Amino acid sequence: MTAKELRQKYLDFFKSKEHTIIPSASLIPENDSTTLFTSSGMQPLVSYLLGEKHPGGKRLVDIQKSFRSEDIEEVGDSRHDTFFEMIGNWSLGDYFKEEQLNWIYSFLIDELKIDPNRLYATVFCGDDSIGIGRDTESVEILKKIFAKYDIEAKDIDSAEKNGMQGGRIFYYDAKKNWWSRSGLPADMPIGEPGGPDSEIFYDLGADLHKHENSVFKDQPCHLNCDCGRFIEIGNNVFMEFRKTADGFEKLQQKNVDFGGGLERIAMALQGTDNVFETDLFLHIINKIEFLTGKKYRENKVAFEIIADHIKAATFIMGDDKGIAPSNTDQGYIVRRLIRRAIRYGNHLGIKDDTWYLAKDESWTKEVAKIIIHDYKDEYPELDRNANFIIENLKEEEAKFRKTLERGLREFEKIKGNINGKTAFDLYQSYGFPIEMTEEIVKSKNMKVDVDGFKTELEKHQELSRTASAGKFKGGLADAGEETVKLHTAAHLLLTALRKVLGDHVTQKGSNITAERLRFDFAQPEKMTAEQIAEVEKLVNEAIEKKLPVKFEEMSLDEARKYGAMGVFESKYGERVKVYIIGEGDDIFSKEICGGPHVENTGILGKFRIVKEESSSAGVRRIKAVLE
Ligand code: ALA
Repeated sequence: MTAKELRQKYLDFFKSKEHTIIPSASLIPENDSTTLFTSSGMQPLVSYLLGEKHPGGKRLVDIQKSFRSEDIEEVGDSRHDTFFEMIGNWSLGDYFKEEQLNWIYSFLIDELKIDPNRLYATVFCGDDSIGIGRDTESVEILKKIFAKYDIEAKDIDSAEKNGMQGGRIFYYDAKKNWWSRSGLPADMPIGEPGGPDSEIFYDLGADLHKHENSVFKDQPCHLNCDCGRFIEIGNNVFMEFRKTADGFEKLQQKNVDFGGGLERIAMALQGTDNVFETDLFLHIINKIEFLTGKKYRENKVAFEIIADHIKAATFIMGDDKGIAPSNTDQGYIVRRLIRRAIRYGNHLGIKDDTWYLAKDESWTKEVAKIIIHDYKDEYPELDRNANFIIENLKEEEAKFRKTLERGLREFEKIKGNINGKTAFDLYQSYGFPIEMTEEIVKSKNMKVDVDGFKTELEKHQELSRTASAGKFKGGLADAGEETVKLHTAAHLLLTALRKVLGDHVTQKGSNITAERLRFDFAQPEKMTAEQIAEVEKLVNEAIEKKLPVKFEEMSLDEARKYGAMGVFESKYGERVKVYIIGEGDDIFSKEICGGPHVENTGILGKFRIVKEESSSAGVRRIKAVLE
């Protein structure tokens, strides 16, 4: 079964269970300052899990583009990728464990024809310290499901210590069987939703423990063992709790959040133990073989890093938000992905004077073209933004080449052996991987302190981890009334900008914290001081008029006819919410948006633009506050 067929079967299956198909949200989160990228299907749906009404109803299904930068170091083990597609279905206060578990196993076994003997389940063992018990309800349901296929499903504790013991259902603690955006119960900020989950594992078969070189051979194998025999292909989260100041309370509704890895399910269906051997990567790997003249099977790690990273960068740049490589935020990650891919390409022997590439041509763009071609039916934005992707790859590759040349000149100046700090500086400032430094010093009969380099690298990683953890917690904890006010202010701002600058102004992105609003919009020139003052005046007038804020649900077509602003691409004819600010003859803004918003502009306070600057080519950025 091809991945294309798999996507369609999943959407059709849940459509037949009365789910509304919704399109993938952007990879760049809207109005969410807590995270740089969408990394799971539930992330764009948080407000609905918390009780907001979704125009598609209480049952939703989609395939969400996802990116997890934290997995960047895992790429190369044939199972991990930073960019992946997450198949997802949701109950927003509708069905719960019984329906979800029955449906998803029926989908895997009856629809996809996966052998039930190769499927295993995990459940939450309970945690007294948070007052949430063992999930025996799921165990009972799972036993009945397996019984339908003549499998007696024994439930087993302590598999970490005692191994599989002939079990089928395994209890694990919160480290494995609890899900929230911020991880463990203790790490969740107040207000954050989460819950116990039940994961689905697929048995790849080979007994990797027995191998004589296995580092695992003296440990028992179990579902969550790192040997790689069992692979998680899906996760049923029973999201019914919310963190409070002193523990957990039930949410107003019981939700299901299911997420499954498309690449991994395709792998199981296509009879391989390697996601890079599925049809999702076939053409990409072929292209890299052509470009390097090397074989994937002999250079797996480098190939997987190149394939994954260029794919991720292509999807991020190909988002309608138009993220280009840069030194900050999402742009920095794009830069890192592209440069890491280029380094591994150099390693495999791609040089800029390769016979089929003119000097200074980009090879990464050749890989990107394959990705755009293979994915454009499901993700038409890649096609729309193909030029942007290709031009940025060309530019970034040229820039990186210059950096590497400068680094080589720097290298020439160093006398004697290279200590860890210098090796790290070469890596950090000039993109010299330690392997490259080692090669060069060898040719010069010098030495480099590799251990010292590793110590410096770890110090640096520790620092950046601490910084990003801080960012995550800080943002989420403040999400509340101030953020909602700034969100409404963003709608007023867009209208005001269009009135002052013209109808070419469209929103390119926004990022809101409790303190400020950041708003990117299409506009070729810098705004004058007069224009800025005029925009502030219009927004403040709309605030002083105390305009009501309401929403109406309609089809995309109706929204377009109604004159609402927003993105009008639709694959599924879904219904949308249009937020309307003002009423009668005095409507200030109409915009497609999921909400939430304040009920009346009167409570916003005074709007002030603190900065107007360039964001990227043709895009300006405003930072504004409410005082
Ligand atoms: N939100 C769950 C996950 O990402 C399904 O694993």
